[in-house]
Amino acid sequence: MFGVDQAIDYREEILTLKKELNAVLLAHYYQEGEIQDVADVIGDSLELARRAAQTDADVIVFAGVHFMAETAKILNPNKQVLLPDLNAGCSLAEGAPAPAFKAFRAAHPNHVSITYINCSAEVKAASDIICTSSNAEKIINQIPKDKPIFFAPDKNLGRYLIKKTGREMLLWEGSCIVHEVFSLRKIIQLQVEHPDAELIAHPECEEPILRRASFVGSTSMLLKRVQTSPSKKFIVATESGILHQMQKLAPDKVLIAAPPDANCACNECPYMKLNTMEKLFLCMKNRAPEITMDPVLMEKALFPIQRMLAMS
Ligand code: 13P
Ligand code: SF4
Repeated sequence: MFGVDQAIDYREEILTLKKELNAVLLAHYYQEGEIQDVADVIGDSLELARRAAQTDADVIVFAGVHFMAETAKILNPNKQVLLPDLNAGCSLAEGAPAPAFKAFRAAHPNHVSITYINCSAEVKAASDIICTSSNAEKIINQIPKDKPIFFAPDKNLGRYLIKKTGREMLLWEGSCIVHEVFSLRKIIQLQVEHPDAELIAHPECEEPILRRASFVGSTSMLLKRVQTSPSKKFIVATESGILHQMQKLAPDKVLIAAPPDANCACNECPYMKLNTMEKLFLCMKNRAPEITMDPVLMEKALFPIQRMLAMS
């Protein structure tokens, strides 16, 4: 195994290793800027799942969190999928343990379960259709009106979707530890100080923030909004890693990260930020840590993911 050496130019080494391994490097928008800058694809959950499904690379290096790398593995059971830090979890996935999820489904056998991609493979395997924040509305609108829906695990996204689609849904009580920390009071204060700023928010945020936002959308939709809106200034209520791409693609716009309640960096996802350039380099060099999964579970989890890709 290789250790960390201060003299290593991680960017150069990662680019070389990508060629040597015939690897594709997929990075979520919440990764630190340096990682985004070395990636082949930067995307939201949907785009990264799509690109994982299409790749002809031999190795997938996933700069994101565990459920994302797991999804890439399910879509590519014969490829090696590397994740720089296996502890990169997600509060939503952790808040929906498979036994409790399966028990809930068993108690509501007539409900179609639409499950946010932020969940474990076992929960995916016990779901009817997977969705992301980019395609959830479209998927819900394709469910026959007489079919009751159970939506898990994000209650904030679920509530937002009930409002958007007019469909009643049973909701799981999960939430994202990053998107639930934004302070409405501090945001209002910012709006007073910057009356020309547009408040844009991810639907994982709590309802009072979403009600106040002039635009709500997935990470990639927020990025597009900053590029296409006539506004020159934005208060961005989502994980602050997205500001890197926003500023790159819209250098003339002023971006203000929505502040959390406490004086902390809680608008940064602690799981996403477990990945570093060093760990990325080491996982490519050592070809570990690797995502390994039970083939039967992979097969079961594949079906609801394929349904999502077909319906979005
Ligand atoms: P999207 O990338 O689909 O917007 O989801 C945000 C998120 O919290 C990912 O974990
Ligand atoms: Fe999970 Fe929230 Fe982190 Fe996304 S930002 S990985 S939803 S904890």
